[in-house]
Amino acid sequence: MRDIVPHPAPPSDTHCTPEQYDVMYRRSIEQPDAFWLEQAECLDWSRKPAKGGEWSFDPPQIAWFADGRLNLCHNAVDRHLPSRGDAKAFLFEPDDPSTPTRSLTYRELHAEVVRMANALKTLGVRKGDRVTIYMPMIVEGAVAMLACSRIGAVHSVVFGGFSPESIAGRIMDCESRFVITADEGLRGGKAVPLKANVDAALDLPGVAVDGVLVIPHTGADVPMRAGLDHWYADLASDADCPCEDMAAEDPLFILYTSGSTGKPKGVLHTTGGYAVWAAATFRYTFDYQPGEVFWCSADIGWVTGHTYVTYGPLLNGGTSLIFEGVPNYPDHGRFWQVIARHEVAIFYTAPTAIRALMREGSRWVTPHARSSLRLLGTVGEPINPEAWRWYHDVVGEGRCPVVDTWWQTETGGHMITTLPYAHDMKPGSAGRPFFGVEPLLVDAEGTPVTGDGEIEGNLCIARSWPGQARTVHGDHARFTEAYFSTFPGKYFTGDGARRDADGYWWITGRVDDVINVSGHRMGTAEVESALVLHPKVAEAAVVGYPHDIKGQGIYCYITLMEGNEGSDDLAAELRQWVRKEIGPIATPDHLHFTDGLPKTRSGKIMRRILRKIAENDYGALGDTSTLADPTLVDRLIEGRQND
Ligand code: WTA
Repeated sequence: MRDIVPHPAPPSDTHCTPEQYDVMYRRSIEQPDAFWLEQAECLDWSRKPAKGGEWSFDPPQIAWFADGRLNLCHNAVDRHLPSRGDAKAFLFEPDDPSTPTRSLTYRELHAEVVRMANALKTLGVRKGDRVTIYMPMIVEGAVAMLACSRIGAVHSVVFGGFSPESIAGRIMDCESRFVITADEGLRGGKAVPLKANVDAALDLPGVAVDGVLVIPHTGADVPMRAGLDHWYADLASDADCPCEDMAAEDPLFILYTSGSTGKPKGVLHTTGGYAVWAAATFRYTFDYQPGEVFWCSADIGWVTGHTYVTYGPLLNGGTSLIFEGVPNYPDHGRFWQVIARHEVAIFYTAPTAIRALMREGSRWVTPHARSSLRLLGTVGEPINPEAWRWYHDVVGEGRCPVVDTWWQTETGGHMITTLPYAHDMKPGSAGRPFFGVEPLLVDAEGTPVTGDGEIEGNLCIARSWPGQARTVHGDHARFTEAYFSTFPGKYFTGDGARRDADGYWWITGRVDDVINVSGHRMGTAEVESALVLHPKVAEAAVVGYPHDIKGQGIYCYITLMEGNEGSDDLAAELRQWVRKEIGPIATPDHLHFTDGLPKTRSGKIMRRILRKIAENDYGALGDTSTLADPTLVDRLIEGRQND
């Protein structure tokens, strides 16, 4: 089923017509430096760059605009004051629709960012210091990011759903000495104990910080530790706080993301290249026009929230909506109510949310006015054509283009994406490469797969782009190993893909041990390490399996220590255990107790077999003769069928 939905006629003020795309894309590949230096002119530089990309992928060493200087907060906020100081920068919609909404003009945002930046300085934060941000989805979360970039501090935002153990790991890994948090967050009517989680993280062995800045949100009574915890109001000040002049390659933020092995990696982005990438992708992919309300439903704890809640919209002088709540509270019409209330023009969300809401039926959508909508977007995982159709036909009333945007934490912004008025749409395809992006497919040996017809393989990127991550914080060897060693000389994405004869790209999902649960990236190794910490668990092997709503679910095979038996109670206990160790997003969907795991004679777990059994696909188990105990497979299948 490969239908084509034609793109709407380009409006007169569109940023990119079909003809322009072809010319611009060709130029971005043939003259990348000239192209990107020109794009960089959309920003204010204290010293304009003369250099474009200076990079190698073998070994990886990446710089863009290296001789340029700028400040990202200046570009996102201060720069707009003369021209649109009274325009709205942020709109805020609270968790509970009956409580007040809020909005901030660029002038008000500037004042708030200065206050927070001063508070950070008083706390002792200096240029280059890492600051951990653990916040609910409220305006102050974005203000915290901007305040860090204003003073040249490097933010590390940790998603508010992560556990104290996960916060602690991230604080220690980047040696962050400061935390910004709130008393509590609210999600779906429930309080999230953010400050208490930070307290618990700081109580863990080996974790120590110099100061915690606490933003009051729900007004909960939270204990404050003398000398360590500070209420925001006590440190904030309106004193002048100039933007720190930064080199383009100075670090901007670290964001932890899951890989196929080990603990999450602290992916590091730098200032100039990221800013140009965030600004350009936001402008072209959403064809953003001044005055439009843009809503990205992602949390600022993920890269999507970094680039498309905070930086991309503000760099374009846009209006970005921040929503604290969830799609199904107080009812399944919540998203559409928010769109009607704030007259959202562009809505950007994940396929998992679309599928979940589609299941509840169109009757939740149609009572809410959607006439303000002009464009819809998706991100995070492949979207099945059925969900795409519902999004386009029902939510967008058949008149809004849908942009499917493929990208990663490591890419900083969109890489392969539909451009709304330049590309026809194929439901389920992420479209064509963004400017400057040269995707490449290779086979298992690393040989490029080429040809004019349909081709399939491992998705690599052949050349650097400005928004590319520069390293893994404190571990460049891991950066090299994770992204540049499988196929030397290329950036390996970890995804599989197909390119059709029309030049459209179809992402087929991860080909490594990363799974994608409700659009959240999860390393199977992380869940396994959490499980084996439990005293009754001997071994664990975790795989992804198809899940109607989440895209993929978490399937755990578990062997127990001598003398223990699997039971529903133990399964519940282990689910709870993983939630505590990592956070609710890692909650196992399925636990399968077994007396052994399928291993080769050399002791390597054969995950291929475990994946197939979890998928209920027993016909394609492949060669099982190399297993140390071939009879185990039958027992595993029996276990799966008896569930
Ligand atoms: C997946 C999120 C298909 C992909 C921005 C990628 C997608 C991983 C899409 C990165 C899409 C993201 N179609 N798959 N439009 N967008 N992915 O780092 O597997 O949280 O490698 O970044 O999400 O997840 P991350």
